[in-house]
Amino acid sequence: MAVTPKPVDLTTDLGFLKLRNPVLTASGTFGYGLEFEPYLDLDKLGGIVVKGLYDKAREGNPPPRLVETPSGLINAIGLQGVGVESFAAKILPKLRQLKTAVIVNVCGADDDEYAAVVEFLDKQEGIAAYELNISCPNVKKEGACPALSPRTTFDLVKRIKAASRRPLITKLSPNVTSIVEIAQAAEEAGTDAVALINTVLAMAIDLETRRPKLGNVYGGLSGPAIKPIALRMVHQVASRLKVPVIGMGGIMTGADALEFLVAGAAAVEVGTASFVDPDAAVRIVDEMERWCAAHGVAAVRDVVGTLKTA
Ligand SMILES: Cc1cc2nc3c(=O)[nH]c(=O)nc-3n(C[C@H](O)[C@H](O)[C@H](O)COP(=O)(O)O)c2cc1C
Repeated sequence: MAVTPKPVDLTTDLGFLKLRNPVLTASGTFGYGLEFEPYLDLDKLGGIVVKGLYDKAREGNPPPRLVETPSGLINAIGLQGVGVESFAAKILPKLRQLKTAVIVNVCGADDDEYAAVVEFLDKQEGIAAYELNISCPNVKKEGACPALSPRTTFDLVKRIKAASRRPLITKLSPNVTSIVEIAQAAEEAGTDAVALINTVLAMAIDLETRRPKLGNVYGGLSGPAIKPIALRMVHQVASRLKVPVIGMGGIMTGADALEFLVAGAAAVEVGTASFVDPDAAVRIVDEMERWCAAHGVAAVRDVVGTLKTA
């Protein structure tokens, strides 16, 4: 008689937020979610992190804004976006109908703008949490952003946490010497979770013209090329922090996602993979489930933090 495999429990509890599974879509790689409706069932996702939102609409950087590299992608979009009012009026009412968690990636040109975005969004319903994007490397010169220093990280997280009625996930930059120091600053300031990594500051050159391939000169590298860096940072941070860690960077398969869980991430975000394969995030959920079933793992959360280093 054929044995039917037991269903795997994919539910994930971040403490402040319960998810149907640990797979979220990464900000900026999945639009505002609705653009992907033709390709996958959005309700099968653990959550959607929407494109970064400023107070007002923004055009972003001059083109070209995307360059492919071996195993990666460099982007210098510069946080183009519709602004919070248009998001709340036209997009959020549709996102609210979904069964999946909607997380808004919050941006600001300065601390006041971050606060203004959160103040406006706090009045809207249907948002599960904020992801505070303090780490975009392609908006200011040379990748400057609050996540490069423990002091600016602490000050901004403290201010936004005090101003907001929703849980706060602070998104960290890999472009630092000690990721643990920055993560600890965010934790001390009261963040409910940290998400890492944002893109790695990078550039590409056209040899014949001797010009940079990106209009912005520098951009952020994502995709499989950064996965080993992301895994190392997630492991370092998860080993030291009490708050949950959401891991990302180059996740293309269920096995990649599970590696992040083993390193200590409670959940993951899928970014560049959605450009290659628009239903990647749901495929990754299915692959994780199959791996767990095949390895006798009853609940995916049992994989979290199981790295053996001795
Ligand atoms: C085209 C593009 C746009 C992005 N926009 C945002 C953004 O608006 N906010 C943000 O926090 N991260 C943004 N990111 C970073 C991703 O969310 C993610 O942290 C990074 O790409 C690493 O994951 P991946 O290798 O799976 O893509 C963007 C990445 C790409 C490739």
